[in-house]
Amino acid sequence: MNTKRTRIYEGKAKILYEGPEPGTIIVHYKDDATAFNAQKKAVIDGKGVLNNRISELIFTRLNELGMPTHFLKRLNMREQLVREVEIIPLEVVVRNVAAGSLSKRLGLEEGSALPRSIIEFYYKNDQLGDPMVSEEHITAFNWASPQEIDDIMHMAIRINDFLSGLFLGIGIKLVDFKVEFGRLYENDMVRIVLADEISPDCCRLWDIKTQDKLDKDRFRRDMGGLMEAYQEVARRLGLIIEVEQPERSRPKLVKTD
Ligand code: TMP
Repeated sequence: MNTKRTRIYEGKAKILYEGPEPGTIIVHYKDDATAFNAQKKAVIDGKGVLNNRISELIFTRLNELGMPTHFLKRLNMREQLVREVEIIPLEVVVRNVAAGSLSKRLGLEEGSALPRSIIEFYYKNDQLGDPMVSEEHITAFNWASPQEIDDIMHMAIRINDFLSGLFLGIGIKLVDFKVEFGRLYENDMVRIVLADEISPDCCRLWDIKTQDKLDKDRFRRDMGGLMEAYQEVARRLGLIIEVEQPERSRPKLVKTD
């Protein structure tokens, strides 16, 4: 018997459905790619499947390290089961190397080293184009409390340390990334947990040897080869098993006499 699922929300790259138990949600990864607040759109076959797998691996490892996250388990090729959280309306960006909007804003050459990792906050609001905000705005408008901002910054730095090491080990430089957090209500407790996804859609990943971009900038900047780049990240993370090519039979000497 087919039962219709209840759709809670459809975003640019994901759809949320009610989960099987109260307090759970099913996240469905679409193949849609958008940039510049959805002014640029495309469907890239298979992107959702790869992001689902890559995000699963990263959230599983973070859970194992004791980082509180919303992630419970992957359900199938495109879906994962997560805990329902109240999303804090902030995009938290951590930068290790100058690139993208920071390079533009401060006139820094892309790829130049930063004196230290930098955390930035953007207010999640598509109509306003996600403007950058400071801790003053966040507390004044009550988007998060000072204690919550503190927790978020500590978690963002831990995530950066973990991800930088993970990618360094597979020959990739983590230039920057964006994460989102939520409030998890459990009995009379509320705590901040990592939510949303971590995938090449929301990170800048550069090959250490060639400086090739292995992330969504390939789409934002019309460079092509997005799927190949995401596949390369998945392959290096051990998510795509390489099938050994059967050894070609060597040319044989033909007897002529
Ligand atoms: P930015 O340099 O364009 O501000 O982007 C910083 C990082 O945040 C980069 O890794 C891409 C990611 N990002 C998102 O995930 N979603 C967004 O809407 C934007 C603007 C950036």
